[in-house]
Order: sequence, then C-alpha cells, then structure tokens
Amino acid sequence: MAQDEKILEYMRSFIKSNIETADQIADSNDRRNDVQPSVEPETGRFLEFMIRLTDAKRVLELGTSNGYSGLWMLKALESTGGNLVTIDSKERLHLEAVDNFREAGFGNVDAIYGDAAEQVANLEPGFDLIFQDCGKYLYPELFEATVSLLRRGGVIIADDTLFSVNNSVRSNLGRYTDQYNHLAFNSSKLLTSILPVGHGITMSFKL
Ligand SMILES: C[S@@+](CC[C@H](N)C(=O)[O-])C[C@H]1O[C@@H](n2cnc3c(N)ncnc32)[C@H](O)[C@@H]1O
Repeated sequence: MAQDEKILEYMRSFIKSNIETADQIADSNDRRNDVQPSVEPETGRFLEFMIRLTDAKRVLELGTSNGYSGLWMLKALESTGGNLVTIDSKERLHLEAVDNFREAGFGNVDAIYGDAAEQVANLEPGFDLIFQDCGKYLYPELFEATVSLLRRGGVIIADDTLFSVNNSVRSNLGRYTDQYNHLAFNSSKLLTSILPVGHGITMSFKL
C-alpha cells in the first residue's frame, strides 16, 4: 500500500459522518458512473468543522450532486441553527438530493435546480460560508459573484483546487482551478490558503 493510501486509511478510521444516508450515498456513488465524485469524508468533516467553528448560519453550495457534501453541512447547520442553499443544474441529481435530504430528516435546506451562473444573481448577499464545488470551468467565471455574495469575515471553500498539479485524467480541468487559485490569492479582498485535503481545498477569508 502506498504511503498516501496508508495515511488516508488511517484518517478514515477516525472520520465517520454518523449520517446513514450519507454513508449509503458514498457507497453507491463509488459504484455509479452517472454521478460525479462527491467530496471525500475528510472534506465533509472539514466543511462540518468550518461551519461549527465559524458558527455559520447562511451557507451556499454550488454543485449539490446527490447531496453527500450537503448532508455533512446540514448536520453542522442543525447545530448552528442555520440553513443551506444548494444549487445543481442536473435535474436528476437535484431530485435525488431532495429525496436524500428528506430521508436524512433535514428540513433546513433550499435545494435549487438551475445553472449556478444564472441562479447566483437571484441570491441575497451575506452568506457566512460558500462551498464552491460545481463545474470547474465555472470557478473563475463565478469568482467575483461568490466574493460579492459573501459577508465580510465569511469563508469561501473551493474543492478540487489541486487538480492543476494532479496527473489524473481530471488534470485537464486544472487550468480552471489554477485560474481560480490565482484570482483568490491575488484578490485584495481575500486572505487565501490551500490545504492538501482530498483533491485540494482553497479557502479564502473575506477581509
Ligand atoms: C463534483 S459534483 C458536486 C459534488 C457534491 N458537492 C458532493 O460532494 O456531494 C459537481 C456538480 O456540479 C454540477 N454542475 C455542473 N455545472 C453546473 C452549473 N453550471 N450550475 C450548477 N451546477 C453545476 C454537476 O451537475 C455536478 O452534480
């Protein structure tokens, strides 16, 4: 077993969602080819952790898929008394997510079916935390909109942002995440760092 796999196995021996529906989604998504990969459990825990740490109440997710990352965030938001707005442009996945949120017993969610590039214009600014996980091509395009939707002191977390240095088949998406990283690190409105969690997480604090 390679060193990285040993580390992952060790980390995952501790990190459990304790959400039955989330565990079922993770199991079935691994076997499906009609759904893009969900976040890794360690990224799910990181999102849960950040929501609890910052006491976030208004959270926006771009890229719901069938709701795995959403469930981690909803669990945290149940504790903070907050709610999640989450958007996906694939109706089939949006409907699956709605069912999964209901099955897990979470009502504190507004799942929107639509193109994130269009839907962001309809949202009220002032989000405490924004999780960017939709089509990678949209990361640079939606950068300014997400910064505007975030309150000062809020956090943007963007997933898969080390695709640019990843040699896998998905590395062709890396040029978008590389552009995004340049925007986030060069913005005078943000303080930004990258963590090598999952396929990379870029986290930005709005100054
Ligand atoms: C990597 S998946 C999201 C995974 C999910 N956050 C999770 O961890 O469970 C990316 C999702 O973005 C959605 N997507 C792609 N382009 C989009 C767009 N323009 N607007 C909204 N969603 C989009 C895809 O349909 C897909 O479900």
